[in-house]
Amino acid sequence: MLPAPATTVSPVLPRIAATAYLTPLREGGSLPALMEADDLGTYVVKFTGAGQGPKALVAEIVVGELARALEIPVPELALVDVDAEIGRREPDEEVQELVSRSAGLNLAVDFLPGSVGYDTTFAVDPLTASRVVWLDAFVANVDRSRRNTNLLIWHKALWAIDHGACLRFHHAWGDVAAFAASTYNYADHVLVGVGDPRSVHDDLRARVDAALLAEVLALVPDPWLQPDPTRPDPRAPHDAPTAREVYREYLLARLDAAERWLP
Ligand SMILES: Nc1ncnc2c1ncn2[C@@H]1O[C@H](COP(=O)(O)OP(=O)(O)OP(=O)(O)O)[C@@H](O)[C@H]1O
Ligand SMILES: [Mg+2]
Repeated sequence: MLPAPATTVSPVLPRIAATAYLTPLREGGSLPALMEADDLGTYVVKFTGAGQGPKALVAEIVVGELARALEIPVPELALVDVDAEIGRREPDEEVQELVSRSAGLNLAVDFLPGSVGYDTTFAVDPLTASRVVWLDAFVANVDRSRRNTNLLIWHKALWAIDHGACLRFHHAWGDVAAFAASTYNYADHVLVGVGDPRSVHDDLRARVDAALLAEVLALVPDPWLQPDPTRPDPRAPHDAPTAREVYREYLLARLDAAERWLP
């Protein structure tokens, strides 16, 4: 069923447990998996133990839920408990290792059955396209190219997935002002020419405020916001509450610098 567009962020993400590993999704660089859960749903599970670690999942939640608040269709997200045992029967060693490294909480993305990857031959709603381009420029998403669109067509509408590469500042906590004012490479975006970010700027700019950012950041599990001991960075926020404030600071500064990143 198509969920109605949400106007407010739900206070918590649903919590489910994985019951079966169905198949790896090899087209995804992070080796996500199709899994079944105890709510009888089928999900694309993105693992904490994959390449970019939990930070990719932080970006998935923050940007995915911002998208939803801006009425961009995105699949429902949930936090999924994965038992290390569940990967043991997989024949592929890479899968076994990834699942056992990721035992515990991971991110589940509701699977959209029968969806197909977007390419420019599909006609899409220009308002949705404009919102997607605006959001991608705001969060510095480099993962919406013609080659790898990370957009699906489902029930004839455009759905946005895969926000793990957004918010690049959290991989090296540099100067807030430099991130805020960095330009966006529109030439690489698959929806340029279909959507016009300037046409939605006033509306979306008014909706993204400190309160909305706090709501989406509250959905991220605390452990994913702790400093990564395998990648020591003296500038990284030292605990989850501080991290939430710092994410907010970067994103509010970027909103204020919109004239630098709008086309
Ligand atoms: N919710 C979904 N419903 C249906 N198919 C999906 C869904 N999420 C992902 N997929 C499929 O799985 C592929 C991999 O997912 P995704 O892009 O999220 O993974 P990734 O490892 O982050 O990918 P990338 O290589 O782009 O970084 C997608 O390109 C898409 O074909
Ligand atoms: Mg992808």
